[in-house]
Amino acid sequence: MDGFERDLVCALKEVVNDSNWQYVGVKEMFNSPCTKLYSEDGEHVVLVHTEDGRFLAMDSACPHEGGPLELGDIEDVGNGKLALICPWHHFDFCLDTGSSSTGLQNQVYEVREFNGKIYIQTQSRLSLSPKTETAAVPFDSLTPRLPVPVCSEDTLCFWAAKILCTPEPKEKVALTHQVQERWNSGQISEIGHAEAPEQPSREESLTVREPGRIKRGKGGTLASRIALLHSLANIEQWAIDLSWDIIVRFATVRLQNGEQLPQEFFNDFVKVAGDEAKHYQLLEKRITELGSFFGSLPVHNGLWQSATDTSHDLMARLAIVHMVHEARGLDVHPQTLARFAAQSDESSVKILEVIYRDEITHVAAGLRWFTYICAKEERDHLSTFHDLVKQHFKGYLKPPFNSEGRKTAGMNEEWYLPLVRPS
Ligand code: FES
Ligand SMILES: [Fe+2]
Ligand SMILES: [Fe+2]
Repeated sequence: MDGFERDLVCALKEVVNDSNWQYVGVKEMFNSPCTKLYSEDGEHVVLVHTEDGRFLAMDSACPHEGGPLELGDIEDVGNGKLALICPWHHFDFCLDTGSSSTGLQNQVYEVREFNGKIYIQTQSRLSLSPKTETAAVPFDSLTPRLPVPVCSEDTLCFWAAKILCTPEPKEKVALTHQVQERWNSGQISEIGHAEAPEQPSREESLTVREPGRIKRGKGGTLASRIALLHSLANIEQWAIDLSWDIIVRFATVRLQNGEQLPQEFFNDFVKVAGDEAKHYQLLEKRITELGSFFGSLPVHNGLWQSATDTSHDLMARLAIVHMVHEARGLDVHPQTLARFAAQSDESSVKILEVIYRDEITHVAAGLRWFTYICAKEERDHLSTFHDLVKQHFKGYLKPPFNSEGRKTAGMNEEWYLPLVRPS
């Protein structure tokens, strides 16, 4: 190869490198409809291989609440367009544009096939297997002091653990309301301590499926409304457990200055637990009014993942569960409401409005305790939050944001805009 040819090859290599086309594998490796590709920046991608032989790609985490789109179904939505349907709440995402009829938008990527090789246009390196990294527990994280012996009865933690271990949702709700009442009236006054179960109990009759295998009712029908209410009731059941889990798991933490969490922390999360129980009850009643029942459809338990991921660190728990996921719930509220309003389902609309008002206070509670601990430990609350989200959430936060709802909860843009993918 003479000097000119070498220069030419080098120049071409530079062009290819600068263009951000990532080679992901030969075509034959992607025979299944959906393949998840892991990105180094946590924004994983789903590569879709359609029946007519096309390749398309979009972010694999659903912009709604992070459902696994790689486990979704591909549906023909007319006009030659295909959509990927999220297995969690069945939002549709057009494979060509990433837009959804719900108003949300997913990031799509250009895909090229050349000489039997597949290339995706993105700045991040993609691979077929996740990078195995053992998440380092920060030295100063607020780690619960476990194991601790099971405490005496009639303390808040005894009941929190008991409710977590109660599989029947109606009983879980009733116990939650009883404990809330007894705590508020001072009949239970000791916080105590108890060991939190790794995962809350669920009824054996509840069919728990891999997310991708949950089928939705056809759009716009009564069945699809029931399916959506059913998935919301499932979320509320987990939300009850998340509230009791933060109480029992972190009851014994000490802040860096040696102080314990104040009584108000427990007051707030007992109130959150009570709200979540009320939400479950309202949704369960509505599902019954519509002729079905909770448990009639399979559910997924992907929601506990963030609890497990943050079980070692109270600050991470507050950040991810209450300030990322619950805040995301505020963002998607308008779209969910519109679905029921479009079918004149006023009763469901009223329930969703009650839930929305309460959820604003839950985000506010997360924010209050996060900033309280930062102040006590002389940590900058914004950079601490951003670091924790980058460490535990994996991926970027996605617009659209309900900035009004978030602001009412006390969360200004400075909290979440720095966590959006840079354009
Ligand atoms: S998480 Fe995908 S539709 Fe809710
Ligand atoms: Fe709720
Ligand atoms: Fe909540």
